[in-house]
Amino acid sequence: MAIKIFRTANRFPVCGLSRVWRRGLLIGIAYMLIGVSPVYGWFWRKDMVKQPSVKPQEAPRPLPQNSIPRQGKEFPMDRVEAGKRLRNPIEPNPAAVESGKKLYEIYCTLCHGADGKGGGPVAAKFVPPPDLTLDVFRVRPDGFLYQTIADGGPLMPGQRDALQPRERWEIVIYLRRLQGGEK
Ligand code: HEC
Repeated sequence: MAIKIFRTANRFPVCGLSRVWRRGLLIGIAYMLIGVSPVYGWFWRKDMVKQPSVKPQEAPRPLPQNSIPRQGKEFPMDRVEAGKRLRNPIEPNPAAVESGKKLYEIYCTLCHGADGKGGGPVAAKFVPPPDLTLDVFRVRPDGFLYQTIADGGPLMPGQRDALQPRERWEIVIYLRRLQGGEK
């Protein structure tokens, strides 16, 4: 096949080039096509980048299916599911109530007011929050309140970043006090 091409090229001179030059030109083009430079040798291989490794700036690879976090991570779930599945792991002792009160004053009073009935300074400028001592909120399970603090509501901002799980449970304990009972 190659010989045939050369013969054809020989019979019809291309741009007046001699047979040697034409052959050189063809070899050059062939080199370029297969990615080899006769001057610099082999090109540096870059295909190692195509491998299943975590690239710089890339998010961590997803966990294998059914793996269970051993520490620190929480399962994402909605408030209703959290209400059914989560139990408050903290005893409602005086220290927890005290800590919950402090945290509530920092993170919740501005909207819900010190007594939980609304009327905090931000409530005047924002959507007025509901009275949290009403029965409708008293019967909410602990897990529901816990998840509301983490993720917020339709209008209330979530405070997952600001409050550790333990702190959220302590706020739930204090909220129960505001609602006028142990639970
Ligand atoms: C920026 C104002 C704002 C802050 C801060 C805020 N809330 Fe709210 N909260 C609201 C509003 C508005 C609603 C009603 C609408 C909604 O649920 O999104 C609400 C609703 C709630 C509910 C009722 C949820 C339900 O549907 O049963 C609870 C409980 C609650 N907040 C607790 C808290 C606690 C505890 C904190 C502090 C960690 C807090 N909120 C901080 C504005 C706020």
